[in-house]
Amino acid sequence: MIYFDNSATTKPHPEVIESFAKVSANYFANPSSIHPLGGQVEKLLEAARQQAADLIGVLKETLIFTSGGTEGNNTAIKGVALEHQSRGKHIITTQAEHPSIYDTCSSLEKLGFEITYMPVAEDGTVSAADVENSIRKDTILVTMMQVNNEIGSIQPVEEIGNVLKKYPKVLFHVDAVQGLGKVPLNLSDTGIDLCTFSGHKIHGLKGTGLLYVNHTAKLYPLLHGGSQEYGIRSGTENVAGAVSFVKALRLIKEKQNHQKDNMLKTLHDKLMKGLRQLEDIEINSPSDGANHIVHFSVPGMKPEVIIHSLSQKEIYISTKSACSSRSLTESQVLAACGKSKEIASSGLRISFSYENTEEEIDIFMKELKKAIKQFKEALR
Ligand SMILES: Cc1ncc(COP(=O)(O)O)c(C=O)c1O
Repeated sequence: MIYFDNSATTKPHPEVIESFAKVSANYFANPSSIHPLGGQVEKLLEAARQQAADLIGVLKETLIFTSGGTEGNNTAIKGVALEHQSRGKHIITTQAEHPSIYDTCSSLEKLGFEITYMPVAEDGTVSAADVENSIRKDTILVTMMQVNNEIGSIQPVEEIGNVLKKYPKVLFHVDAVQGLGKVPLNLSDTGIDLCTFSGHKIHGLKGTGLLYVNHTAKLYPLLHGGSQEYGIRSGTENVAGAVSFVKALRLIKEKQNHQKDNMLKTLHDKLMKGLRQLEDIEINSPSDGANHIVHFSVPGMKPEVIIHSLSQKEIYISTKSACSSRSLTESQVLAACGKSKEIASSGLRISFSYENTEEEIDIFMKELKKAIKQFKEALR
């Protein structure tokens, strides 16, 4: 099997599954219970939080364990909106966001918030100057992703954060779900107030994640109850999920720090070179995008046909993003990048993990060429 759909989800690492099973079996008590068993579990949870903080380079008290990217983004955006609405009701985002940002922002329009959906350049990015120009007196939040999940473009979030430092009342939220462990991001002193991570994109388990909330960012909680997770996310903690997330985080950070010969770049450049040699293909990813995501279109050909043909050879890739791949409409991200309807509705995404190899790309290219040839012959 060749699995090139790692931006949809990754295969959990065996050590992650093992740590989830061990914690579930041996540390089942409620961390809020005052008996010694509860105390042990609480200690374990806080040790996991400290380890995550060390790996990310932030203070332990700034990290909230969540169920993943969608929850992190909703908690950050709605939390800022509801907490700070007396100061202003204007939020800035971009036209190329994942639905967990885009739709969360548009849902707030029903509550009287005004959203600026910034247009993006052809490569999917916005400039720090354009973000600054969109700020108004009533702006309370800027929210955007670090790495685009469809085409891999990298937003200059650290640069934007630095500009936003001039506006202390405007909070800055970054969705780093696709970048974690693959594209560096510095959270200390870059003006980023909130940052979302998800476990299942880094060989962790589905239903696990982390939200960074710095001390200046007060949030209105989505979930009220027992005041767990510093009162931002009530509910008995998923300790096994949290510990397994931190295991996945440690493993991916090790890969990122010690990757041999910049493996993802080698894979990226080899695939790009192969695709550029095919005349029937249009590459939609910017050449300076993230190394683990390559997006292209085969105009005139339904992406499902290629997906189906490759699946028969046990090669797995995606059409646009998993969340929207069942909808028949064109990709909103590609449309925002100014691509034609034909290109925007015929996209295919390859997304790598550190486990993929150059040999797999050779096999993929061979099978892709065959699939395109067969399709053309069938049309004759
Ligand atoms: C950029 C981005 N943000 C958020 C999410 C949602 O994350 P989760 O699946 O953990 O809810 C995804 C998932 O594909 C994503 O790609």
